Amino acid sequence: MERKWWQDTVVYQIYPKSFMDTNGDGIGDLRGIIGRLDYIKSLGVNVIWLSPINRSPMRDNGYDISDYYQVDPSFGTNKDLEELIREANQRGLKVLLDLVVNHVSVEHKWFQEMLKNPDSPYGDYFIIRETEDGKEPNNFRSYFGGSVWERIGDSNRFYFHAFAKEQPDLNWENPKLRQEIYDMMTYWQEKGIAGFRVDAIGNIKKSETILSNCRMPADAEDGLCDIHAYVINQPGIGEFLGEMRDQVFKRFDSMTVAEIVVPEKDLEAYIGDNGYFSMVFDFSYADIDTNGITRPCDFAKWNLEDLKRCIFTSQENYQKYGWAAPYLENHDQPRSLDKYLEDGEINYYSTTMLGTLYFFLRGTPYLYQGQELGMSNYPFADISEFKDIDALNKYEKAKEMGDSEEKILDFLRRRSRDNARTPMQWSKAPNAGFSKGTPWLAVNPNYSQVNVESEETEEQSVLHFYRDMIRLRRTSEYRDTLVYGRFEGIRTENTEDFVYRRTGEEREVIVAINYSKEPRSWCVEREGYEVLLNNYDRLEEQMQPYQAVVLGKKV
Ligand code: GLC
Ligand code: CA
Repeated sequence: MERKWWQDTVVYQIYPKSFMDTNGDGIGDLRGIIGRLDYIKSLGVNVIWLSPINRSPMRDNGYDISDYYQVDPSFGTNKDLEELIREANQRGLKVLLDLVVNHVSVEHKWFQEMLKNPDSPYGDYFIIRETEDGKEPNNFRSYFGGSVWERIGDSNRFYFHAFAKEQPDLNWENPKLRQEIYDMMTYWQEKGIAGFRVDAIGNIKKSETILSNCRMPADAEDGLCDIHAYVINQPGIGEFLGEMRDQVFKRFDSMTVAEIVVPEKDLEAYIGDNGYFSMVFDFSYADIDTNGITRPCDFAKWNLEDLKRCIFTSQENYQKYGWAAPYLENHDQPRSLDKYLEDGEINYYSTTMLGTLYFFLRGTPYLYQGQELGMSNYPFADISEFKDIDALNKYEKAKEMGDSEEKILDFLRRRSRDNARTPMQWSKAPNAGFSKGTPWLAVNPNYSQVNVESEETEEQSVLHFYRDMIRLRRTSEYRDTLVYGRFEGIRTENTEDFVYRRTGEEREVIVAINYSKEPRSWCVEREGYEVLLNNYDRLEEQMQPYQAVVLGKKV
């Protein structure tokens, strides 16, 4: 594969609403980000991804856009954004914007015009069906629960929404709509951004079935049927994605990362040399605890072997065709420590072990705000503490299906997206230094220990460890190997050994991990290797609990 500029990147994701508030309204803002660019730079990353900053009624925290060309006033102004891009670029930080084009907000002008006059050109910007009996066209379930169809006024007409009813899907079959989107993307590229994180893009092509009148066998007590198989990656989607690539990404040599599950047979088209995107996110290990579940508050069972298999298979598949985008966290996931570690097992060693586990995989590592501090889930005690539209919808649906309050809360406590959205923990000051007002979502009470200021001064901290990992990958003599080297998952006899090798032209690296709370014998031969990184002070006769070691040598 030809080398591309965006392969030598480490991305830091910012959730603007929760990053840094400068005017005391409890909501993070762009000036807050500008003020912390030096901190971000100090981590050693070279790209930042901003979750949506566009004008929005914030039903889904900005993933429901009402104006693609304006910054939401709660975040600041367009001027602030331009300044942010400029200041970031000056520090060698490139900026990715979040591109939400599967749907808009019901407050978007296009939707409002459609409501006023269904026969106007905007009628064709959305997916609308009329039924004779006045019932929903079919019984598919939206991602956030409930039907995918929402009635328009008191008519027999319905619009389609894959997510919340406040997020009507756009009709990508309409060339005029597509052109509007490409123009908007070009506008932002010309403002100096480096590319996009492309939201929910696998959904833009709808199957005939999902738009038809056929009722499906229900797969849960709500009488509805899961939509994934009928909206994700449907035949014909490539026509739209190829057009987007040719009209925008190619012109700007953009870095793009798409939120879409791609089966192996399609990876070439998505991330191959002339792929639609630079890289795509893989959900197999992020959603290991919920994959395949259709009831709103149920978990999938998994074990360490499953986790290892998901990561190794993903790496092996992606490497055949192109580039990967490894991550442990984002704004849709709970904190990774609570997901991947047993209860009561969160500590410095297990936290840095998890970091090491994914950070040296082949691809561009994504780091989510607060992950570099070891932030963990919030101790939610009551449903009134949740803000996330997905959590609240799931709560309602699970109740309707007869789940107990206790079961639902247990699920949301572990799984709600709000876990990742609590304010960034900057210091021991009130509200963790995030805001002088009342934060829109409560600060995690552990902020007095887990925060930037303390971790900067402690001798041993998760923050220092993340910096060391980033340095090893981006600026050490092992950089070429860690960026471009081949990946090879090493199967040992023991489930708790997690070992992989990266082989470059001149050097080789081995990542060796003891994924358990017990000391264990060494899972790799260390002769001839130097120690590049170790979350313990030294190497003992045995591997220590959650020890993570990166070894390297010349080949
Ligand atoms: C993506 C976003 C998520 C949002 C959804 C609808 O999955 O990451 O936050 O709710 O799309 O836009
Ligand atoms: Ca603010």
